[in-house]
Amino acid sequence: MKHSILLPYLAPQNVVILANQKFEAVVADRELTTDEIIQLSHDNKSQGIVVVPKQKITKDVIAQLPDSVKIIATSSVGFDHLDIHAAKERGIYLTNTPDVLTECTADIAMLLLLNACRRGREYLEIMESGWRKTYSQSEMLGIKVSGKTLGIYGMGRIGQAVADRARGFGMKIVYCNRKRLPPDLEKGATYYSDFHQMLPFCEILSLNAPGTAETKHIINDETFALMPNRSVLINVARGSLVDEEALIRALQSGKLFAAGLDVFDKEPDYNLKLKDFHNVFLTPHMGSATQETRDAMGYRALENIGQVLKGQKPQDSLW
Ligand code: DGY
Repeated sequence: MKHSILLPYLAPQNVVILANQKFEAVVADRELTTDEIIQLSHDNKSQGIVVVPKQKITKDVIAQLPDSVKIIATSSVGFDHLDIHAAKERGIYLTNTPDVLTECTADIAMLLLLNACRRGREYLEIMESGWRKTYSQSEMLGIKVSGKTLGIYGMGRIGQAVADRARGFGMKIVYCNRKRLPPDLEKGATYYSDFHQMLPFCEILSLNAPGTAETKHIINDETFALMPNRSVLINVARGSLVDEEALIRALQSGKLFAAGLDVFDKEPDYNLKLKDFHNVFLTPHMGSATQETRDAMGYRALENIGQVLKGQKPQDSLW
């Protein structure tokens, strides 16, 4: 008999096909609320649930799930929407999907970096308004990325993949991480154990650390003040890392030349003041949004569920 699982969101078609092959799957055609998830998991005696980051699996939600639930697998690498402690107490495994979205998320960081430095949004606006005036040699100039120093805050898998791409653009890498990487992973990058000491060197700063209590508002008025003038901020990690009012002040004062943001403190109702800066290149949290990656994330979540329902500890267990 197949195990009963719940996919309470609009999953990619290939993921739905695999879920139906391997399990008795109930698949939603939209993102369900947590109340609906609780109700459906009772109705179907679900043993595994795949969730997405907008579905906040709090202590309260975990308490209301039926005993049948053995695993909640988030189709994301980030897990700031899951209460790990509460799940562990109930013996429910929690898993995420590392590795499979590393490349695409690093690609989005480069997309933001190049567009921020080279004024991609303004150039597009000019073309969309029917470009009819040529520019002189001193107008509409961006920042050359080759030769610049890129600071990476959080040198995990995604941070390393951003570094690899930036090296290809001739950038020098400095990084701050809890632990220094071994030389084969560091690849000549300069390590700073102290974030504040690294900041004066960051002509461009890329945030690649998870959203935790420790990283909340790590970018604030004080940290902007330590960065070079006309620097650039890139964030593909979590909006909570940045104090957005401080970011707005840094953009208004010209301290920042530009920013590239894929993530925001509130999503999707992000701070609309940000869109009024034409030197801010914005994307709607789409780091992992390719067909290949979204399929791979769903497969990985199903793999974790399969392992638990076979009595194994899942490969991506968060506890
Ligand atoms: C992740 O996987 O954490 C991405 O940010 C998508 O939410």
